[in-house]
Amino acid sequence: MSDAGQPDGVAVSIRGLNLGFRTPRGPALALRDVSLDLGRGRALGLVGESGSGKSTLVSAILRLLPGNVERLSGEIRSGGEDLLQLAPERMRQLRGTRFAMIFQDPMTALNPVFRIGTQLVDLQRARHPRLPRALLHERAVAMLRRVGIPEAERRVHGYPHEFSGGMRQRVMIAAALLAEPEVLLADEPTTALDPTVEGQIVRLLSALRAEMGGTMVLISHSLALIGELCDDVAVLYAGVVVETGTVREVLEQPLHPYTRALLACEVGADAPRGVPLRSIPGEVPDIARLPPGCIFADRCALVIEACRAAQPALRPPGEASAAGAATAAAPSGPSPDGPVPGNPTADGLTPDVAGPGAAIPGVAISSAATSAGPASGVLAGDAPPHEAPLPADAVRMGRGDTPRNGTIRRGDAFRANARMAACIRI
Ligand SMILES: Nc1ncnc2c1ncn2[C@@H]1O[C@H](COP(=O)(O)OP(=O)(O)OP(=O)(O)O)[C@@H](O)[C@H]1O
Ligand code: SF4
Ligand SMILES: [Mg+2]
Repeated sequence: MSDAGQPDGVAVSIRGLNLGFRTPRGPALALRDVSLDLGRGRALGLVGESGSGKSTLVSAILRLLPGNVERLSGEIRSGGEDLLQLAPERMRQLRGTRFAMIFQDPMTALNPVFRIGTQLVDLQRARHPRLPRALLHERAVAMLRRVGIPEAERRVHGYPHEFSGGMRQRVMIAAALLAEPEVLLADEPTTALDPTVEGQIVRLLSALRAEMGGTMVLISHSLALIGELCDDVAVLYAGVVVETGTVREVLEQPLHPYTRALLACEVGADAPRGVPLRSIPGEVPDIARLPPGCIFADRCALVIEACRAAQPALRPPGEASAAGAATAAAPSGPSPDGPVPGNPTADGLTPDVAGPGAAIPGVAISSAATSAGPASGVLAGDAPPHEAPLPADAVRMGRGDTPRNGTIRRGDAFRANARMAACIRI
C-alpha cells in the first residue's frame, strides 16, 4: 500500500462505491458496491449495455453529478486523497489537471462562441499559469497538428461549427492531452462518428497511447475497440461490476454469462449478410426495482434457484462460494464450461455460439494491448514492455509514471484488477 490506503501502482482506487438517484419512482441505485482499480499507465475499458452505469461511474470520479443524487458512499482514492471528500474548489483544480475527459459529443464540450485556439489556450492555464499566452498558443497549434488537424496554424482561429464531427473529436483529444492529465477519461469517444472517421480516431488514440503512455478509462459499446486500446476490462451490468480481468482474459475466456452474451452480440466486419443481429433476450432491470438475487437472473440461460437468493459477489474463478457449493449438487442447467447438447449455450443466445474461448467476431486483440497473467495477479514475463521514448516537445500524460530513464512503461508487471466474476456458477 502507498499513501492513504491507495494500493501501489494504482492511479485511481474505487472501493464500495454506491450511487443512487432520487426519481419519481423512488430511489434508483445506478452503481452498487463498485470496487475497481485503475492501474498507473494502464487503460481500463468499461463495457456494458446502455444504462449499465458506465457514464455515471466516470462522472463520479470527476464528481460531475446531477442534482438528484441522493446517495453517494464508498471511496474514490487518487493521489492519496478521497475524491468524494474533497472540497469543491480542490475538485475543480483536479479537473483539467489530474483528470481530463473526452466526451462522446464534442459539440457539448466545446464552447461554440469562442475560437478553438482561445479555448485550447485557456484550458492550459490551470496547468501552466505562468507561461506566456504566445507559448500556450504555439503548444495548441502543435497539438492540433499532432492529432491530425490539417493547416493547424490557420484552423486554430476557427470556431467549432467550422469543423467536421471527426475534426471536432480530434480537437477534443487535443484539448484533453494539453491538460497533461495523469488520467484520461474517454466516454464513448467514437460513437458519434461514421465508421471511417471512427477508425481514424481509434488509430490516433492508439498511437498517442503508445507514444505517451498514460492512464486511461475508455467507455465503449464496442468490444473490438476495447480489445484494440485497453489492457484491462470491467463489465458493468445494472450498476454492478460482474467481471474484471485483462482484455485477453475477458474477451477470450469470458466467465460471466452476461459477458459471454455481450461477446456473442458483437458484430464483426466479416459478419455474413442476411444473418439477423443477435441481441440478449429480455431487458436490463429497472435500477429502481432491482431483484434481490443475481441481477442477470431473468436473462440468464444458466439460472438456477440459488441464483435468486442473493447477488453473487465478485470472486476469482474456482473459489467456491456458499451458493456455488449448492450449484455443485444441483443437477439442472448446462455447464458453464461449454454448451451441453440440447441445452441453451452459456451465452443464452443461439447454439452456434461457443462459450469460453470462443473466437470473437470483430475483436482483434493486439498482443501489445494484452497479456494474460498468472493467478498470482502479476503479468507474465512475456508482456511487451511498451517502451516508447517521449519526444522532447510531447505533452506528457501520467507524468508521475515516468521512470528514471525518461520512458513510460505501460502496464509493467503490474495488474490492477484480479480476474474475477460475480456468478455462482464459475
Ligand atoms: N440524473 C439521473 N436521474 C435518474 N436516473 C439517472 C440519472 N442519470 C442516469 N440515470 C440512470 O442511471 C443508470 C446509468 O446511467 P448511465 O448514463 O451511467 O448509463 P451508461 O452505461 O453510460 O449508458 P449509455 O451506454 O446509454 O451511455 C441508467 O438507468 C440511467 O437511466
Ligand atoms: S449467478 Fe450466474 S448463473 Fe446464476 S443467474 Fe447470475 S449469471 Fe446466471
Ligand atoms: Mg453513457
